Amino acid sequence: MTARRFPTARRSLNAVAQEAKGCQRCPLYRFATQTVFGEGPAHAPVMLVGEVPGDQEDLQGRPFVGPAGRILDRALADAGINRERVYVTNAVKHFKFEPRGKRRLHKKPNAGEIAACKWWLDQELDLVKPALTVALGATAARALAGRALPIGASRGHLLELRDGLPGLVTIHPSFLLRMPDPQVKEQEYRRFVADLRLIARHVPAAKRAA
Ligand code: URA
Repeated sequence: MTARRFPTARRSLNAVAQEAKGCQRCPLYRFATQTVFGEGPAHAPVMLVGEVPGDQEDLQGRPFVGPAGRILDRALADAGINRERVYVTNAVKHFKFEPRGKRRLHKKPNAGEIAACKWWLDQELDLVKPALTVALGATAARALAGRALPIGASRGHLLELRDGLPGLVTIHPSFLLRMPDPQVKEQEYRRFVADLRLIARHVPAAKRAA
């Protein structure tokens, strides 16, 4: 339905996604399995931006389908948000990792990789034109604001990202995966859900049907 209502944006997003498959704008393409482009409705009212695809995302070619994605899905559902109505993408679109035996350990993208990949994120923003953009963690916040934003002081309220883009900032869900204390983890999960509830407050179109 969305594709029929917005044929141009959908076609263009598909074209950009196709083009991104051959991206060599930074060296990360050499080791990753594939480009993991964003997905969701062509004119989603909300865009969620993560950091970089993980191991599962790299293998499946879709954003947030691994362990961090499962937390994100649960938190979105608890916040009353329908993931199907949201466009989900990453600041950097190739998996960055360090081989450790048979495992591939996630590595944070650096400033050059984030800047190189902004080429794709900007096109996604231009085409989708979300009413609200949500940075999941510091890397996304940096990519969207053009400068480092402290998550603690930036979360919980609407702010202007670059070029007047209305946005919210919250933690990256993998932050919760790394928390050893279950009680603290639960508290932080609730704060994350509270942050995500602000999406529905500002953009009722993102809500799940009751
Ligand atoms: N972490 C991210 O930032 N993005 C994903 O797609 C998966 C894990």
